[in-house]
Amino acid sequence: MRARHEELHAVQQTGLFIGTAAVILLSMAAALPRTASAADYDSANGVNGGMLFDKFYATAASAKKAAPKFSNAFGIELSNIAAAGDFHRCKQCHGWDRLGSKGAYISRAPKTGIRPNVSRVNLARAATTDSPEKLFARIASPRNPRPADFDPKTYDPATENPAGDLMPAYGKIFTEAEIWDIVKFLKENAYDTTALYDLKTEGTYPTGSVSYAEIGRDGDAKAGRTIFEDKCADCHGDDGLEIDLGGKSVGQFLRTKAYEVHHKVGLGQLGSSMKPTKLSPEEMKNLYKALTDETAFPGKPAN
Ligand code: HEC
Ligand code: HEC
Repeated sequence: MRARHEELHAVQQTGLFIGTAAVILLSMAAALPRTASAADYDSANGVNGGMLFDKFYATAASAKKAAPKFSNAFGIELSNIAAAGDFHRCKQCHGWDRLGSKGAYISRAPKTGIRPNVSRVNLARAATTDSPEKLFARIASPRNPRPADFDPKTYDPATENPAGDLMPAYGKIFTEAEIWDIVKFLKENAYDTTALYDLKTEGTYPTGSVSYAEIGRDGDAKAGRTIFEDKCADCHGDDGLEIDLGGKSVGQFLRTKAYEVHHKVGLGQLGSSMKPTKLSPEEMKNLYKALTDETAFPGKPAN
């Protein structure tokens, strides 16, 4: 795969320099059945990509629990990564909604030594407009890569220390196949949150605030209830109260953290028994709609 990719790259490079020969060479390239990257993208696993986006170094006690496949091919010291996880997780800088500092994370301020600023990039838009190849390149080699010797412990947003806010060069963390998995997630498995609810923001990062309206939009609540009965109720109970989600029921969680549930449902709650549930955007919208019903999916009683 790699050899074919490099060969093609070399062919394209030569084509740039040799004027007329370029035409011939390019037509040769076009005659190849597909470029290596297109084939790699096709065979990539977007669900794994979504888990890598969440927390690539997450592990699970057993195969019954949700965890990404991450080879650590570059032999990184994962305990260092885990000790400063938010400097490495895509979701910290880009958000569960991929809208960065203009999305649900408008109020997620940086913390000294703990977590960086949320990025201004609209990754949801980039995922739609950019080609798989371009996304791959941006992830492997960011425009503004963070220096490899950056130490999160020195990060202080109050002083001049932008390195923590810069994107790590993931080409030195992930294999090519793992990056393709993430690209596939961004383009195909990630949910477009604008189809799930209206996000209302006030103010600006990092002191802004958010609220949600039109959760589930014009979704079919009845169809959503059936999805809940089939795919969730065994664990969460018919009314979503069975498992304590940080003091919340499933309904409550959805109504307060609408920006996160689509990811946890579609890509899994890492380290727990909640594995990814394959739902189309339409089905996700229906599930969202169903969970807005406070009678069928009440909150936990206040103690
Ligand atoms: C520490 C914060 C941080 C982390 C972690 C991070 N990014 Fe970024 N990302 C940024 C910033 C800042 C930019 C814009 C500047 C740049 O491209 O270097 C960016 C840009 C991007 C772009 C280019 C978007 C465009 O407009 O073309 C993509 C794609 C991207 N990130 C994906 C990811 C993925 C996937 C991960 C996890 C594997 C990730 N990022 C992790 C901060 C981060
Ligand atoms: C196999 C059991 C199982 C199934 C099936 C399951 N869940 Fe979960 N879910 C869990 C467990 C366990 C947790 C708590 C994990 C933890 O403590 O972090 C959880 C957590 C959650 C959370 C909170 C996530 C967070 O970020 O803390 C939500 C929301 C949720 N589930 C919704 C659903 C919905 C909706 C479905 C159906 C599409 C579903 N779950 C299916 C077991 C399950």
